[in-house]
Amino acid sequence: SVHDLEQIFQKKIDEEVKIEPKEWMPDAYRKTNIRQISQHAHSEIVGMLPEGNWISRAPSLKRKAILMAKVQDEAGHGLYLYCAAETLGMSREQMIDDLHSGKAKYSSIFNYPTLTWADMGAIGWLVDGAAILNQVMLCRTSYGPYARAMVRICKEESFHQRQGFESLLVLSKGTDEQKAMCQDAINRWWWPSLMMFGPKDSESTNSDQSMKWKIKRKTNDELRQQFVDMCVEQVKLLGMTLPDPHLKWNEERGHYDFGEIDWNEFWNVVKGNGPCNKQRLEARRKAHEEGRWVREAAAAHAEKRKQQPQT
Ligand code: ACO
Repeated sequence: SVHDLEQIFQKKIDEEVKIEPKEWMPDAYRKTNIRQISQHAHSEIVGMLPEGNWISRAPSLKRKAILMAKVQDEAGHGLYLYCAAETLGMSREQMIDDLHSGKAKYSSIFNYPTLTWADMGAIGWLVDGAAILNQVMLCRTSYGPYARAMVRICKEESFHQRQGFESLLVLSKGTDEQKAMCQDAINRWWWPSLMMFGPKDSESTNSDQSMKWKIKRKTNDELRQQFVDMCVEQVKLLGMTLPDPHLKWNEERGHYDFGEIDWNEFWNVVKGNGPCNKQRLEARRKAHEEGRWVREAAAAHAEKRKQQPQT
């Protein structure tokens, strides 16, 4: 019976056995993995846009080469994650349609504008830093293809984070204008980065079940706290500050206390009303339309090859 199957399934999870594509799984487990993995894939793809904005304006050949490599990595991560989601039975066309129609979510963070070159550093340090904490945890997620994708993605992501920090470090030792630009970028990206971890645990609708199924292995608040503790130390090396007057070491908790996130802003961005949501989706739709002939040509070519006898 379904009840027995569910018990066998949960036993596997409890014993740390990975779940593989062809195995029985509860419908809700399949659904929540499709939801999370496809959102994750969309985030990688939409995440190329804010940085792509600066490729043609990078301050040196070295910075340009790094930025191009990083944005290409993100495309690779997205495609890798779409493949992982496809193993659960949803077609890529469907996922992409859902992104373009506004039905599917993607990370709130990519709906903020990149105003100066320092934003490239701040994105690397803070945004990729936040992404990595979440993704290191996901290397141990219970769905096999997702966990394996994360191992490779984390290796590239840690390079992304370090190049961001290094780039800010250079600015932080530069002219007064460069220092000010560095601080301004940190100020603008700090709070949106904290929002990346999702709503507070008490408001997180998926967390309880996802923790039981070990899709998530740490809660939103646990990861967010880990991130704050890490950044408070790192920002000292930059000689910069984080824009939160409530940051304070809490001896009892063994963690830094921090100020309240503006949750209205968070939900507003998630619902599609952030500063760049419309622009981001328009750019994705346009790219999809303009690439249509390439997809059609590739499919026609593959069809033609199939008809020809192999030599
Ligand atoms: N931006 C947009 N939507 C969000 C965000 C966010 N930062 N955080 C949470 N949400 C959405 C959730 O998707 C969920 O909506 P849904 O039920 O309609 O899908 C709702 O808010 C409630 O949140 P939770 O119940 O806490 O959702 P969940 O358990 O999925 O946890 C989390 C959210 C932590 C982001 C999880 O989905 C996750 O670990 N995803 C994989 C990592 C990822 O997507 N990273 C993308 C950014 S990093 C990068 O691209 C490099």
